[in-house]
Amino acid sequence: MRVTLVLNGDARTLDVDTTERLCDTLRERLDLTATHVGCSEGVCGACTILLDDTPARACLALTVQCDGARVETLEGLTPADALSPAQQAFVQHGAVQCGFCTPGFLAVIEGLRRQGDAASWDEATLRRELSTVACRCTGYDGIVRAARAVLQPTP
Ligand code: FES
Ligand code: FES
Repeated sequence: MRVTLVLNGDARTLDVDTTERLCDTLRERLDLTATHVGCSEGVCGACTILLDDTPARACLALTVQCDGARVETLEGLTPADALSPAQQAFVQHGAVQCGFCTPGFLAVIEGLRRQGDAASWDEATLRRELSTVACRCTGYDGIVRAARAVLQPTP
């Protein structure tokens, strides 16, 4: 089936099987390998991308379901010649170890930033949102600090 994705700002038309997952289209057809696949069951969140500004599991979405949608991966969220503010915050706050989960967290944080309602959340609420992605390396303190730096910057 022919589908068109607005992928990281550019329209891309592809012929895909109706059973093809979005994560496979991104990684295997389009070489956008920042979208990581862990559990393939919608649990770990490593594959989280932005779908029309909302964090979504790319392992659970069929590409044909995304026809006409805006899909953003970490490649699209990263400036060409620098780290994004969220990436800088992850480095600064020690929120990255192996990095497998990091693209998922960055997509979640960018989705929250665009919603705009995380600015006044308490830490428990922010932790609940971030718990949609699993990290096996760092513990969450650094990730929460990095998220706060992006979503709740002090004046
Ligand atoms: S690979 Fe998609 S949620 Fe784990
Ligand atoms: S940094 Fe390794 S899984 Fe999160």
